[in-house]
Amino acid sequence: MRFEAFSRKAADQRCDCLVIGTFERGELGAEAAAVDRAAHGRVRGLLSRGDFSGRAGETLLLTEVGGLASNRLLLVGLGGKAQFNRRAWRRGLQSAVAALARTRIATAALALERPPGHELDDYYLGRSAAEIVGAGLYRVNDLKSARRPRPSALARVLVGPVDAASLPEVRRGLAAGSAVAQSTSLLRNLGNLPANVCTPRYLANQARELQRTYRRRLRVRIFDEAGIRRLKMGCFLAVTRGSEEPPRFIVLEYRGARRSRAPLVLVGKGVTFDTGGISLKDPPAMDEMKFDMCGAATVLAAVDFAARAELKINLVGLVPTCENMPDGRAVKPGDIVTSASGQTVEVLNTDAEGRLILCDALNYARRYEPEAVVDIATLTGACVVALGNHHSGVMANDDALARELVEAGLRSDDRAWQLPLTEEYGEQLRSNFADMANIAGREGGAITAAAFLGKFTQGLTWAHMDIAGTAWTSGTAKGATGRPLSLLADFLTRRASR
Ligand code: BES
Ligand code: MN
Ligand code: ZN
Repeated sequence: MRFEAFSRKAADQRCDCLVIGTFERGELGAEAAAVDRAAHGRVRGLLSRGDFSGRAGETLLLTEVGGLASNRLLLVGLGGKAQFNRRAWRRGLQSAVAALARTRIATAALALERPPGHELDDYYLGRSAAEIVGAGLYRVNDLKSARRPRPSALARVLVGPVDAASLPEVRRGLAAGSAVAQSTSLLRNLGNLPANVCTPRYLANQARELQRTYRRRLRVRIFDEAGIRRLKMGCFLAVTRGSEEPPRFIVLEYRGARRSRAPLVLVGKGVTFDTGGISLKDPPAMDEMKFDMCGAATVLAAVDFAARAELKINLVGLVPTCENMPDGRAVKPGDIVTSASGQTVEVLNTDAEGRLILCDALNYARRYEPEAVVDIATLTGACVVALGNHHSGVMANDDALARELVEAGLRSDDRAWQLPLTEEYGEQLRSNFADMANIAGREGGAITAAAFLGKFTQGLTWAHMDIAGTAWTSGTAKGATGRPLSLLADFLTRRASR
């Protein structure tokens, strides 16, 4: 896909299809009004006859429109004019892409009305547009045996019109958004694969694939079970014990800045299937536990993005990956294991396995003396109860880092919300037999999980993102969402320029 910005009048822009937005009650913004004048009032005519309502999400494709450099015109409803904002703009763009994808249009010029500048500046206009187009054209990598539907013909997307002075920023945004979109496809593909395909070894091969792609700046190391044992990751080993599928610990080191700059470390939960282990989960929707590696996929995608965008940062990705299965050898409630940090853990519930693989990976992060560490995990159902599916949870031992992530989420429309992580929560993890238990009560479950991780990140600048509610959708549109890659891409890009 090629993305370009343009500054000439929309009516004069050559393309296969010009896309404009209209509001409800026949109201037109300045952009659409200019196109309507060029098209001899064709748009207003339609609106006044009531053939197009302008409701959010509505689209209408017109052909043989005179007076325009394009012979097709796609109308997109933007809802009420008074309520028009960034969210309505995004929604309009999404429906435009869905409509374009159903046609054989190869070059489209997106000339929707723009929300006020303070809501969407030139850079984010470009970045968001490219991300929305990429997400809209994404097709689930299903394993259906019927002949695949033809992929969309859309190959070139023009965004504008913008002032000539704005072109460079819009172009910069388009390039960034295009990179985010490509890395997001990787993340979604990995998330959607079934657990019998996407195993720990499969994820390790994906990491090797990244190394082949970005040979110059990326180094990848993979530890097998013996290697993980040498690293003394007793908590990680406890989780994988019940599985026939061998675990992997994946280390990706991207170097985009001078060697002396401390790296950022991202850690991703890579449970390729979570049955709960001996503390077995209920059957309903257990298939969705194939998504329990979305944190890992996010980390692979974030490294992919950094390398693709050639960010001037040093970035380390750490991915502990295994299955959580019940078996004669599986870890049992009450078992006590020793983490790589030396702290002992009483495993009271084998379904609280994510924190067990993460704590050993977080401990590994210390050797990098990192600028900051962020872990990403589908960690708790409690986080879904607290925040639903709209915000990822952020918990941190450093409020500035938490704020940075929350703000990156606002800018990229991939929102996150900070939950408090004060000392009381950690105290709830007391065990009679070990340094700590791996669970506390039901109350505040998202935070006590973070507090567990917090016992392994003392002295580090660390944040934890619980993406249990945001990483995938259930129901008829079941599938990986690609979140929170856009947020992280924004975070990493900003870090690169500071
Ligand atoms: N992978 C799950 C969390 C999860 C559950 C994410 C449902 C999305 C939807 C995690 O490993 C888990 O099982 N957590 C337990 C923790 C509990 C045993 C303290 C949970 O949330 O129930
Ligand atoms: Mn679990
Ligand atoms: Zn899990």
